[in-house]
Amino acid sequence: MSLLERAGLAVLRRMDPETAHDLALRALSRGLGPSPGPLSGPRLHTRVGRLGLINPVGIAAGFDKNAVAIDALSRCGAGFAEYGAATPRPQPGNPRPRLFRLAEDGAAINRFGFNNDGAGAIAARLAAQPTGMIRGLNLGANKDSADRAGDYVEVLRLAGPHIDFATVNVSSPNTAGLRDLQDKAALADLLARVVAARGADDMALFVKIAPDLDDAALADIAEVTTQAGLDGIVATNTTVRRDGLRSAHRDEAGGLSGRPLMAPSTRVLARLSTLTDLPLIGVGGIASAEDAYAKIRAGASAVQLYTALSYGGLSLVADIVKGLDRLLARDGHASVAEAVGTDRAAWL
Ligand SMILES: Cc1cc2nc3c(=O)[nH]c(=O)nc-3n(C[C@H](O)[C@H](O)[C@H](O)COP(=O)(O)O)c2cc1C
Repeated sequence: MSLLERAGLAVLRRMDPETAHDLALRALSRGLGPSPGPLSGPRLHTRVGRLGLINPVGIAAGFDKNAVAIDALSRCGAGFAEYGAATPRPQPGNPRPRLFRLAEDGAAINRFGFNNDGAGAIAARLAAQPTGMIRGLNLGANKDSADRAGDYVEVLRLAGPHIDFATVNVSSPNTAGLRDLQDKAALADLLARVVAARGADDMALFVKIAPDLDDAALADIAEVTTQAGLDGIVATNTTVRRDGLRSAHRDEAGGLSGRPLMAPSTRVLARLSTLTDLPLIGVGGIASAEDAYAKIRAGASAVQLYTALSYGGLSLVADIVKGLDRLLARDGHASVAEAVGTDRAAWL
């Protein structure tokens, strides 16, 4: 981490967390931020369905909801970035405060509720800034929509030409009723419509699930997602559970992310990998190269992170990519693919 980044983080940590994140994004959008350049190497290349990634470490959805820091994210060393969530119409989200720092736990709780500039504005930013990096958009539905499945299709229609992948987010805990779209029949219908909307395009499609699902629900999702012909599953979003937290904000409503999510989210990932051959993207609680490697060994072909970046800065991405390469080499793996699922049993 550079001195500038260290000083910046120290200042941001004393501010309201949403204001701090907005300021950090503004700084990134003005050209500040780490620039290690594209990080790759023979061991780091990985495939997730039809996506070929130069390295397996991605920026998770929600970090740059409105795609205002595209250039900075494409320079930070990540292998891919997911923007959004975007909804068809702009919406303000829930009243503030709606993001809480749980520093003692290395965690955060958010109840943003899909605040975003709308798919049209976000698609225009993506269109104006093509980069060499693989990028995707997290698809959401407006809170007051009468046809939520139609919302996902509409966002895809607007942004599709400017992205390499889209993630159907049916797992945000902050839009009432949204997670019901994970139920078997509803999900089958939604995914059929989204797949039809993709048409002949070669964009990859993923679905993102909650960590709070039991085995029967995971089996249903694995079956429906495979049948729909998706490219993979993103596991997981934030949790509504609260176990063993110490911070004052632990009882705030919303989704919990960060360190306490690592174990439950990785268990769901490992479980899911026994139920499907689809590639999985592991997200939830990653704060180090060791965590990223654990997700891969639990069954993930690629990983994403968000909360640890607000504690460690964007330079953490490059540290994780380089550390992961060393861990793969240490264990004699010639590629990420060779390591995928090699320690699944530890999480079951
Ligand atoms: C403030 C905040 C906003 C988020 N917004 C979204 C979102 O819009 N769509 C989504 O699929 N996930 C969203 N997430 C979830 C993250 O993408 C990720 O799945 C989750 O935080 C677990 O990863 P982490 O522990 O590395 O943060 C958000 C997370 C946070 C902390």
